[in-house]
Amino acid sequence: MRTVVLLGKNIYLVLRIATFHVQAQKMNLTQKIEKLKREKKAVILAHNYQRPEIQDIADYVGDSIEISRKAKQENDAETIVFCAVDFMAESAAILNPKKKVLLPTLGARCPMAQMLTVDEIKRQKAKYPDVPVVLYVNTLAAAKAKCDVCCTSANAVEVIQSLNADKVLFGPDRNLAEYVQEKTGKTLIPIPEYGFCPTHLLFQLEDVKVLKLEHPEAVVIVHPECSGEMRKSADFIGSTSKMCRYVKESTAKKFIVGTEEGLLHRLRKENPKKQFFVAYGGAVCPNMKLTTLDRLYMSLRDEKHLVKVPEKTAMKARNALDRMFEIKC
Ligand code: 13P
Ligand code: SF4
Repeated sequence: MRTVVLLGKNIYLVLRIATFHVQAQKMNLTQKIEKLKREKKAVILAHNYQRPEIQDIADYVGDSIEISRKAKQENDAETIVFCAVDFMAESAAILNPKKKVLLPTLGARCPMAQMLTVDEIKRQKAKYPDVPVVLYVNTLAAAKAKCDVCCTSANAVEVIQSLNADKVLFGPDRNLAEYVQEKTGKTLIPIPEYGFCPTHLLFQLEDVKVLKLEHPEAVVIVHPECSGEMRKSADFIGSTSKMCRYVKESTAKKFIVGTEEGLLHRLRKENPKKQFFVAYGGAVCPNMKLTTLDRLYMSLRDEKHLVKVPEKTAMKARNALDRMFEIKC
């Protein structure tokens, strides 16, 4: 018996030391990043889906329109480290071409953004010559350069409403297209026919139903990239930051969240007395999670990976992004 107790104590001690060691390493890395940030006059912008430790070290955390706006308005910093995925960093480089924009991990690519090719846009434009093209910011720069105006999930409804057209070519997210069509009554032609987010596709109504049985009073909030049946089950639909605002203003105490689990860190931090349940625990965006403290540190240290968009493409894409910023919402 004594041997078992002794063994248990030793295992506990080893685990405590290991945890302490990991925490100390993390602290060191955090301090090193802070130091480099000051030396290189850098600012760290992070998307709401980033790992908790990345959100905690960032100067600003937000949804795609907020971090794009921050990048566009950044005056003081020389370098913007963009902790997010490719298309978001590209937008920052387009909007503020005088700054060095770094993406800590080259592989952090949004698969949805890859789903819409320039050829497909050209094909659809030829088929519908007088129909305006609105592209979700989750597209690559070359695609943005071929559209009339961009939108994010935070302003898609207002962008479509602002157009003097009843029919619009819209891509690449079909779920967002359907949501905006429901909201505006206009006809949105999805390009490609079925573009989607592999992470949001994982949310299923069944999971919400199970959670609702356990927590019937919980309020359901979902991202418009979710399926129609998920959206129908929701009390609120909005971009990641709009969800944060909704939760802050709500008197409810429990929330079932239909978006990437990274948002729960911010939700919990801002609302310590409220409870959050991700509608499906497996809904993780692997690309967003590629950015770690180590990679962020190396990115600052070696000034990698510099995001550059050829000026001809950047100029056209900038017009589409700027047009979006002009629309009030
Ligand atoms: P938000 O603009 O709502 O943050 O969404 C970005 C995104 O990639 C959703 O999957
Ligand atoms: Fe792209 Fe989906 Fe990841 Fe957002 S959550 S970055 S849409 S793959």
